Amino acid sequence: MNLVTMIELPNLGDDRGGLAVIESGLSIPFDIKRTYYIYDTKEGVSRGYHAHRALKQAVFCISGSCDILLDDGLGEKIVRLKSPLEGVFVRPFVWHEMHNFSDNCVLLVLASDYYDESDYIRNYEEFKGLI
Ligand code: TYD
Repeated sequence: MNLVTMIELPNLGDDRGGLAVIESGLSIPFDIKRTYYIYDTKEGVSRGYHAHRALKQAVFCISGSCDILLDDGLGEKIVRLKSPLEGVFVRPFVWHEMHNFSDNCVLLVLASDYYDESDYIRNYEEFKGLI
């Protein structure tokens, strides 16, 4: 299975400004139950450092930029998110870390389910053991 699946949104903007639309189950490969965003990020701080057992997520940097590291236990890739029109799909059992947030970064995350701490794998050795 591909480690990196990018999600390209059409640019519906015009001379008045940009417009991007995300439709549950259409633009992204799952139905959205939860949306959250990471903002006011601090220089030098990294986040994530976990995988999920069942949760599917799509991550868009709708302002600024950041790097997202994806690791499926077999290899890792770093994707630079820098466009509100280009997100990345994070499937279950993919360890992910976010690094190098720009000053004005806002990371929008669309998730297939409600928050459930028991779905998290927060220990990398445990993650490797489950792969
Ligand atoms: P966490 O997932 O650790 O953040 P990140 O992956 O960005 O580093 O979440 C931080 C805290 O917020 C943690 O205590 C769990 C809580 N949280 C919720 O209550 N609901 C949510 O939807 C999310 C994403 C986190």
